Amino acid sequence: MMGTSLPRAVLALALTVAVVGAADAAQRKKPADPSIWEPTRRAPLTEVKGDPVRGRVIVIKKGSCLTCHVMPIPEEADHGDIGPPLATVGSRYTPAELRMRVVDPKVLNPDTIMPSFYKSTLNRVAKGLEGTTFLEAQEVEDVVAYLSTLK
Ligand code: HEC
Repeated sequence: MMGTSLPRAVLALALTVAVVGAADAAQRKKPADPSIWEPTRRAPLTEVKGDPVRGRVIVIKKGSCLTCHVMPIPEEADHGDIGPPLATVGSRYTPAELRMRVVDPKVLNPDTIMPSFYKSTLNRVAKGLEGTTFLEAQEVEDVVAYLSTLK
C-alpha cells in the first residue's frame, strides 16, 4: 500500500514542488514570438513547392544539420547526436510543424541549441549580414519537403 503512510507534510511539499515545477515548465515553453503561431506563419514561405532533392543537399551543405542530427544520409560519415535522430521525422510532424522547427525552433524551446534558420534578428551577425537569414525562404521549403519524405 504505497502512499497511505506518507506523512501529510511531505505529501503537501511534494505537491507544491510538482505544481511550481509545472508552472515553471509552462512559462519556459511559452512562445517567444506568438505571431509565429498565426496561420500565415505556418503556411509555406513561398509559392514554389519545395524540392526534396534540393532539400537533401541543403541539409548536408548549407544547413549543416548533420552536425547535430543522425539522418538517413549514408554517404556522409559524421552524424552528430546532440539533437534527436530525424529518420522518421516526416511521419511524426506535418509540413507546417517541420517548417516551424526549421524557421525558429526557439519558439518551441527558447533554450534549444538548434539554430533558427529563418530568423532575421540573429544576435551579433557579421557586418553586412545584418537582417539576413541562414537559409532563404525557398531553401526552407526545400528542407521541409525533404524532411517530409523521412517516414
Ligand atoms: C547545433 C545543433 C543543431 C543543428 C545544427 C540543427 N539542429 Fe535540429 N535540433 C537540435 C536539437 C537539440 C533539437 C531538439 C529540440 C530542442 O532542443 O528542443 C532539434 C530538433 C529538430 C527537429 C525536431 C525533431 C523532433 O524529433 O522533435 C527537426 C525537424 C530538426 N531539428 C531539423 C533540423 C534541420 C533540418 C537542421 C538543418 C537545417 C537542423 N535541425 C540543425 C539541434 C540542432
